[in-house]
Amino acid sequence: MTDMLRAPAEVKYADELDWLESIDTGPKPFSWRLSPRMVRLFVLGSERADGLDRPVAQKWFGDRSFVERSIVTLASDRGLLLIGDPGTGKSWLAELLAAAISRNSTLVVQGTAGTTEDHIKYSWNVSMVIAKGQSPDSLIPSPIMTAMQRGVIGRFEELTRTTSDVQDALISILSEKYVSIPELKDDSINTVFAQPGFSIIATANSRDRGVNDLSSALKRRFNFVRIPVVTNKKSEAEIVRFRTVELLRRHEIELDVPPTLLDILLQSFADLRTAAASATSDDEKLESSLSTAEQIGVLEDAILHSQFFGDRSLRADTLARSLVGSLARRSPEDLAILNKYWHGTVEKRSKQEAGEWEGFLSGGREAIATLS
Ligand SMILES: Nc1ncnc2c1ncn2[C@@H]1O[C@H](COP(=O)(O)OP(=O)(O)OP(=O)(O)O)[C@@H](O)[C@H]1O
Ligand SMILES: [Mg+2]
Repeated sequence: MTDMLRAPAEVKYADELDWLESIDTGPKPFSWRLSPRMVRLFVLGSERADGLDRPVAQKWFGDRSFVERSIVTLASDRGLLLIGDPGTGKSWLAELLAAAISRNSTLVVQGTAGTTEDHIKYSWNVSMVIAKGQSPDSLIPSPIMTAMQRGVIGRFEELTRTTSDVQDALISILSEKYVSIPELKDDSINTVFAQPGFSIIATANSRDRGVNDLSSALKRRFNFVRIPVVTNKKSEAEIVRFRTVELLRRHEIELDVPPTLLDILLQSFADLRTAAASATSDDEKLESSLSTAEQIGVLEDAILHSQFFGDRSLRADTLARSLVGSLARRSPEDLAILNKYWHGTVEKRSKQEAGEWEGFLSGGREAIATLS
């Protein structure tokens, strides 16, 4: 595990999952490794009232109803589609659910414009076909087909980026729950049936392309769970803190993130979101989605910068530079928006509240000037 850049959730939380499995007395649907209540506990963490011997950390932050609806869907006949703005934790939730239910979150198909039917069904090992002909040995199952054979959760990332014929292939998988392999003549092997427990968690980004691009036939085979951008400051602070601790551990960095700086980060995102909400055209909106993930990215940048090139303590001006650097994607539009924000809001806050806002003001100004 130590030599994996990023361990999948079932590896990272293997201990905790083993323990939850050992105390789980609830009924489990199909071949699920945990009961629905335990899956929820794993994702959302424990509370004191649960009276557990060891605390379970919250891993995904958001309304419990989303998690419950997702779990219920996976036990039903339909697939689960998580949709929402970029960086709202859809993929992370999908990974956690697959890890808790199937102990395998890596059977993933990444949807792109180039995804073909083969990627979700099967393909052939050409040299083996030439040597021995088409047989089960020369068949290469897709991750989705493997999930069917094992009765576990398969994942489909960015479903709406795929073309309609690929989406159509999914319809038959989700309704008939088998894949036929017409190339194999023997009736006993030319159909792969899904084992109980198989389901699909798909994600779709509502910014990339509308979900309207899904055919209505496919829509009907999914339950939709819409994940909103977290705007509750408390949960947002928790997510950012959770990720930061992980990041520091991964890089073996000993560095303090002062709570006042975390507040400034959260406040500036809240301000920028408010500004975006009242913007009348796209040019007045930052291109970035201003999601929690974006905040984590800004903080990560600032922490690494302080560690590598600073004096190993995080400062407000470094944070400001990282924020400007990360959010100024389009020049001049994004820079103009940030400039306006710094001149209006940050300046005012720095006068009123002083403290770290002063460093934030000067750092941001410099960064904007450098980029302009
Ligand atoms: N609600 C949340 N709870 C926990 N972590 C979150 C949450 N929202 C975002 N994150 C963190 O933000 C990062 C990005 O999340 P993720 O990749 O799951 O987003 P996404 O919704 O799939 O985005 P995209 O649409 O761009 O694929 C992850 O590191 C994730 O842990
Ligand atoms: Mg994603």
